[in-house]
Amino acid sequence: MSGAKSPDRKSQASGSLPPCPVIRTPRLTLRPHLLSDAEAVTASLTDFGVARMLLRVPQPYHLGDAREWLETEANAGTAWNAAITETDDAHIGVVSIEKLRNGWHLGYWLNRQAWGRGIMSEAAWALVAAFFRQRPDSTVLSGVFADNTASLKVQAKLGFAISGIADVYVPARGATVNRIETRLTRDAFAPATE
Ligand SMILES: CC(C)(COP(=O)(O)OP(=O)(O)OC[C@H]1O[C@@H](n2cnc3c(N)ncnc32)[C@H](O)[C@@H]1OP(=O)(O)O)[C@@H](O)C(=O)NCCC(=O)NCCS
Repeated sequence: MSGAKSPDRKSQASGSLPPCPVIRTPRLTLRPHLLSDAEAVTASLTDFGVARMLLRVPQPYHLGDAREWLETEANAGTAWNAAITETDDAHIGVVSIEKLRNGWHLGYWLNRQAWGRGIMSEAAWALVAAFFRQRPDSTVLSGVFADNTASLKVQAKLGFAISGIADVYVPARGATVNRIETRLTRDAFAPATE
């Protein structure tokens, strides 16, 4: 796997990240987003099976929401929002690491057509590996809703440990659900096939 090889001292000192790298894995290319990804992002996030597992997706979701996100946030300096693509460069999902109030957070989703082939395990591992090369002393936070077994498995394989549980409001469900909170240090990060 490749991409974001050496720590960027300026970014480390400022607490930001260098621009989202292009990362190649055996089956995938992770790359910065393009405005032309708007239709694919919309098609994925209008699927309730995807949106119901996410904390911050506007409901209902429209093409304008995707365009706004692509224009303002997708390539912002405080985050790596990597588009997940296969050989044809078609956008099939997102894996991101962003700085929030209490630290760096991993998030991700895949178009339903791409589920069940180990894609997210491969994509998330590659982005986290690149992140730890930049910020080896940081901890990565994440979490899954209590009914998201697939996502909890993805995180367990990376080395995430459960750190707590919280009630959160999920706009897509219009309900409060239990969220299992998780965290990953570089020491616990599972060695994979880099
Ligand atoms: C969660 C998600 C990213 C998983 O992506 P994926 O590429 O299908 O995941 P992987 O194939 O890498 O791994 C999933 C693991 O969970 C298992 N799994 C899948 N569905 C499952 C289910 N309903 N119950 C139990 N295990 C399940 C798979 O067998 C696999 O385990 P294995 O590696 O031991 O075989 C994808 O389902 C998705 O985008 N869901 C909607 C959005 C979402 O949930 N985002 C994450 C929010 S925390």
